[in-house]
Amino acid sequence: MKLFLDTANLDDIKKYAAQGLVDGVTTNPSLVAKEGVDFKKRVIEITKVVKGPVSAEVTSEDAKEMIKQGKDIAKWAKNVYVKLPMTPDGLVACQTLSKEGIRVNMTLIFSAAQALLAAKAGAAFVSPFIGRIDDMGQSGMELVEEIVQIYNNYGFETEILVASVRSPRQVALSAMLGADICTMPAAIYDKLVKHPLTDKGLEAFAADAKKFK
Ligand code: G3P
Repeated sequence: MKLFLDTANLDDIKKYAAQGLVDGVTTNPSLVAKEGVDFKKRVIEITKVVKGPVSAEVTSEDAKEMIKQGKDIAKWAKNVYVKLPMTPDGLVACQTLSKEGIRVNMTLIFSAAQALLAAKAGAAFVSPFIGRIDDMGQSGMELVEEIVQIYNNYGFETEILVASVRSPRQVALSAMLGADICTMPAAIYDKLVKHPLTDKGLEAFAADAKKFK
């Protein structure tokens, strides 16, 4: 399973990309706004740090305008994926852009039916927001399971990109279910490597190593 960072913070992207295991980046308007930077400039900066897919979202809600924005965004770098919202207009734009060879990430997915539509529209990625589903007292992981089954049933090539991730456990569960990609904030990425028993074990080994003759 590929691991993406869900952030527009360049320092975090540089820091974790340097560890060699970051396969891509996802951004959204909220994440870019948080950084207080120019959208296009920041997306291009990210595409230079990470060679894998970098998702950048359109801001329009109208199909024609989304197509126009999507075509423009796709020119910014070879590894840019255009993020479109799961709406009727978004699905129209997804079909047009995908037919032209532009990779689309259909976002704000909260049901298996929406994921089916995204795949039929030719999306390269589908992004179920599992944390926001859990926040509502439902199960985000069940949604991932349903999408995996549907895509396997029909051989859809759309990759399942698990988003709105809140814990390392959700990353592991996504991998167990066969999701293609999991995107997460830097704070969660940081926690993937950590375990208190690893620290404790290392401490004991280091102490014993000092006793070597
Ligand atoms: O990639 C989608 C993600 O940014 C949404 O996360 O934490 O705002 O639900 P969150």
